[in-house]
Amino acid sequence: MRDLKELRDEILNALQNAKPEEYESLKIKYLGRKGVITSVLRGLKDVPKEERKSIGMEANKLKKEIEDFFKLHSPEKGKTSSKKFTDYTLPGRKKNLGAFHPINRALDEIIDIFMRLGFSIEYGPEIESDYYNFEALNVPKHHPSRDMQDTFYIDGSDKLLRTHTSPVQIRTMEKSQPPIRMIAPGRCYRKDEIDPSHSPVFHQVEGLFVDRDVTFADLKGILSVFAREFFGPETKTRFTPSFFPFTEPSSEMYVSCVFCGGKGCNVCQHTGWLEVLGCGLVNPKVFEYVGYDRDKYNGFAFGLGVERFAMLKYGIDDMRLLFENNTEFLKGVIK
Ligand code: PHE
Repeated sequence: MRDLKELRDEILNALQNAKPEEYESLKIKYLGRKGVITSVLRGLKDVPKEERKSIGMEANKLKKEIEDFFKLHSPEKGKTSSKKFTDYTLPGRKKNLGAFHPINRALDEIIDIFMRLGFSIEYGPEIESDYYNFEALNVPKHHPSRDMQDTFYIDGSDKLLRTHTSPVQIRTMEKSQPPIRMIAPGRCYRKDEIDPSHSPVFHQVEGLFVDRDVTFADLKGILSVFAREFFGPETKTRFTPSFFPFTEPSSEMYVSCVFCGGKGCNVCQHTGWLEVLGCGLVNPKVFEYVGYDRDKYNGFAFGLGVERFAMLKYGIDDMRLLFENNTEFLKGVIK
């Protein structure tokens, strides 16, 4: 009986001083199958008969006391209350909304406009052969335009990083027959120094339209509709003579300045016009390379720089902003 009183003091004392994370193991220690109380109760059979009843009652009382303690201080509650505390007065966490990159946004709009005009989408490899990037586009070896384009060549092979999306014209004509109406978006590479209007990696959208009786009027019509869809209904277009080996005649399309509407400002260098893309009627020599009958078919082609379109549309004055991954800038560009 005396031992039991000591045991009771000891246990209740331990429980009072225990930390919540210790409750679980104390519960096992006292009440578990091999626990202290359990073995006291088991030992009752060895106690002399006269004392058995009172010791038994005393041991059961202690057991009940311990159980009551754990009813109030459940080991589960101990665990959670010791580790988690929620301060409901704290301000909520801000969720950052994603935004489309201006290049992708412009690209999506360009693609959308040409899809509505009945063009399909083609893709070609960024690592190209000399044949598709130059040869089949009527740019012979040692032609000055190969220097002009300052190409990244891949050492020890005839492979290079494509300098424009025009090779996709050739790939598309090789695998299909006219009529063709396609655009080819993608990345291009040139050895240009990084500055406000140049980047060694940039994006183009190529366009190719081939059928019977295609004229320069078709080219002007489609590209003018495109310009008005992209820059707004007031946009005027103008076509000046130019040169590309794969088109004849070749031209550059200008749009009335999107900033001053044609009155003249710093962006258009007070001309009222902005040069936005290169184009022309497909050179019959290119048809010969892909095995099309040059007397039966004609067509037009164009190539535009997506960065330039994005910068003009969203009022960005430095191309580097498009590649620096400054999320504050990127979030603010397009509302
Ligand atoms: N490939 C030309 C360039 O990169 C653009 C172009 C494409 C011009 C198609 C005419 C026709 O400058």
